Amino acid sequence: MSAEEAAALVNNGDIVGFSGFTPAGCPKEVPTAIAKRAEAAHAEGKEFKIGMYTGASTGDSLDGALARANAISFRTPYQSCKDLRTRLNAQDTHYFDMHLSQEAQELRYGFMPKPKFAIVEACDLTDDGEIVPTSGVGILPTICRLADYIIVELNAAHPKALRGMHDIYEPLDPPCREAIPVYKPSDRCGNSFVKVDPKKIIGVVYTNRPNEVGEFSPVDEVTAKIGTNVANFLAGEIKAGRIPASFLPIQSGVGNIANAVLGSLGANPDIPPFEMYTEVIQDAVIDLMKEGNVKFASGCSLTVSGPLLDQVYADLDFFKERIVLRPQEISNNPEVARRLGLITINTALEADIFGNINSTHVLGNKMMNGVGGSCDFTRNAYISIFTTPSTAKGGKISAIVPMVSHLDQSEHSVKVLITEHGVADLRGKSPIQRAHEIIDNCVDPEYRDMLLRYLESAPKAHTPMNIYTCFDMHKAFMETGDMHNAKL
Ligand code: COA
Repeated sequence: MSAEEAAALVNNGDIVGFSGFTPAGCPKEVPTAIAKRAEAAHAEGKEFKIGMYTGASTGDSLDGALARANAISFRTPYQSCKDLRTRLNAQDTHYFDMHLSQEAQELRYGFMPKPKFAIVEACDLTDDGEIVPTSGVGILPTICRLADYIIVELNAAHPKALRGMHDIYEPLDPPCREAIPVYKPSDRCGNSFVKVDPKKIIGVVYTNRPNEVGEFSPVDEVTAKIGTNVANFLAGEIKAGRIPASFLPIQSGVGNIANAVLGSLGANPDIPPFEMYTEVIQDAVIDLMKEGNVKFASGCSLTVSGPLLDQVYADLDFFKERIVLRPQEISNNPEVARRLGLITINTALEADIFGNINSTHVLGNKMMNGVGGSCDFTRNAYISIFTTPSTAKGGKISAIVPMVSHLDQSEHSVKVLITEHGVADLRGKSPIQRAHEIIDNCVDPEYRDMLLRYLESAPKAHTPMNIYTCFDMHKAFMETGDMHNAKL
């Protein structure tokens, strides 16, 4: 059927689960057609909003189109769309941010309303109900099982030969869940397709649309220094015998910094070729794989820019031996993360001098994206690293403050903080020791004295925090546009 015919099946108040993870693997034409339906209904003064579950962020023709049409009543989890961000900060859309590994099980447990529709992208579909996802999996297996109806976008831009790259496994629910049998990143424990009851498939929409993955910004001086600091720190850990000489699998976050860090790891001669157990496989991983520096990557999506994805598809025999795509419940699974001993590297918007991390809320109230998988990995890491440029907004914001304005990762989970200035190793240190380690090594020199004065002003106690002034730097930014003006 056409995308419009499929969209006509979805009505105001319906709950829809979408496949994919980042723009990779997301349906495109049916969501855009639903958005048009919503716009037409609104023009007639009628209500039209759907509740929606995705794997993580999506593409513009999904989150973007539906947000611009004000067609989303609630949504979870991670998003990174400008128009949607505006909607949820305006409270037009109820957004609840949740750990990506937990979404599928919380749907199965009935903690959230069941989806009526699963709208999924596939590269192959058989008459007996085998769905082969494209370059991103997300929550596809679970929504297909839970939903009453399935609509498939069969996208010819992804080759059928992708069959074999996926490993689809859904754990049993407690009390009978067994160990997830993944003992190394390349282990497979499931099927190469999702099997559904073909009677539930009420529509197939044929498309030929590339992913909506953006390009990365070129590495700049700050991100290059952060990358070098991470690589040198890890090389030092190998030398000190705290990380095995054979190294450990890497999980790396999303975005420009993560891309730069991976490039630095590959370029460091003291770091051996490594494996990845991560959620997003992005451009740098493919480059490192071609050079032999990444031996294997397990992820939930292949979120690489268009020309690079073409290269992967042109050489699928090579890449299918080196890449596996899993549902996010497995790619981000805390049990597996701790078993494999992951080195996790994620990005903070803001950190405080004790090691607490805010990755989601600008100045404590405006949602940026969401926690994504950062907590799934950080809490269960062998060693958890956070990176951030030491300042934002041309130096008017210090990314390191007396107290984070919102908390995503607590000081108990964060082992190492790295900026362009250096490395703060927080392991085995008390709050006052951590504060000095962070101020000396990570804070921009222009803000060091301010933070030292704050520490001295705080009552002498286990955690020297001054509840009267801990947000003075934020207040100075809100009132004057510059944290330098804080009276600390
Ligand atoms: N206060 C206010 N604004 C800040 C800030 C701070 N402390 N630090 C950064 N910003 C602003 C930047 O100026 C920039 O604004 P702009 O878009 O208007 O220029 C914006 O926040 C993003 O900063 P940038 O440095 O470009 O970030 P990024 O692309 O590297 O993304 C995160 C950083 C934290 C937003 C992103 O990594 C994220 O969403 N992380 C959470 C999820 C996650 O970790 N996922 C991976 C887990 S597997």
